[in-house]
Amino acid sequence: MTLARTVSAETLDHLAPDDPAARRSRRDLVRVHRAMGTRAIVAGGWQALVGPARAAAPLRILELGAGDGTLLLGLARALAPRWPQVQLCLLDRQDIVAPATLAGFAALGWQVRVQAIDVLAWAARPEATVPGTRWDLITTSLFLHHFDGAAFELLLGAAAARCDRFFACEPRRSGLALAGSHLVGALGANAVTREDAVRSVHAGFRGTELDAHWPRAGGHWHTREGAAGLFSHCFSAWRSGTPR
Ligand SMILES: C[S@@+](CC[C@H](N)C(=O)[O-])C[C@H]1O[C@@H](n2cnc3c(N)ncnc32)[C@H](O)[C@@H]1O
Repeated sequence: MTLARTVSAETLDHLAPDDPAARRSRRDLVRVHRAMGTRAIVAGGWQALVGPARAAAPLRILELGAGDGTLLLGLARALAPRWPQVQLCLLDRQDIVAPATLAGFAALGWQVRVQAIDVLAWAARPEATVPGTRWDLITTSLFLHHFDGAAFELLLGAAAARCDRFFACEPRRSGLALAGSHLVGALGANAVTREDAVRSVHAGFRGTELDAHWPRAGGHWHTREGAAGLFSHCFSAWRSGTPR
């Protein structure tokens, strides 16, 4: 089945952060990630981009659309013994990272900063909005699919100009993922999550669609793109000569 890509506004993005339905939907996301195997997929993607020697040295990582930060806290718990010196910036337009999540990162020795800003404001003026101009790794999960057109190009252009490595884990636009998205109610997900899951698959990616939009100016990039797990679609990019 070939589904045309359609991007539509997701309900969660328009609810106030402390709306009970939004809180519940963010908790649902934890279960959705578990069903999708996101943490293991992202950990594998990061480790393919950042080899053991490089991981032992200081690393600056920026997550775009980080949400409540819990996905990366789980990842940090798995990686911290081999990735000991991480400075992490969690960017999201909603300020929703709980103190307990920040404490979890701190306990691992990861330095974390939360940046509550619209990603397109960052993309338009990266150095004016978020301190630090270069990132060893920019990462996203369930985020790029919110964008298309000029905003999508602006976002990818800013990321490519600011990092040496880029990783995205997005919904896969496939019949299987669409069927799965209609079943998230079985995980106990609320109406917001159920609707957004289906929208996310329609806005997701397949084939080499991310590669086709990745800007090549300013350095030669290597890329890898494809299916991951049953429901995800991943894209990795690294600059030629970047130590892995
Ligand atoms: C589906 S959630 C994913 C959160 C997290 N990456 C994860 O995988 O658990 C998408 C996130 O993108 C954020 N978001 C959507 N549009 C944004 C924008 N224009 N700028 C910054 N954040 C945005 C939302 O606030 C939300 O937290």
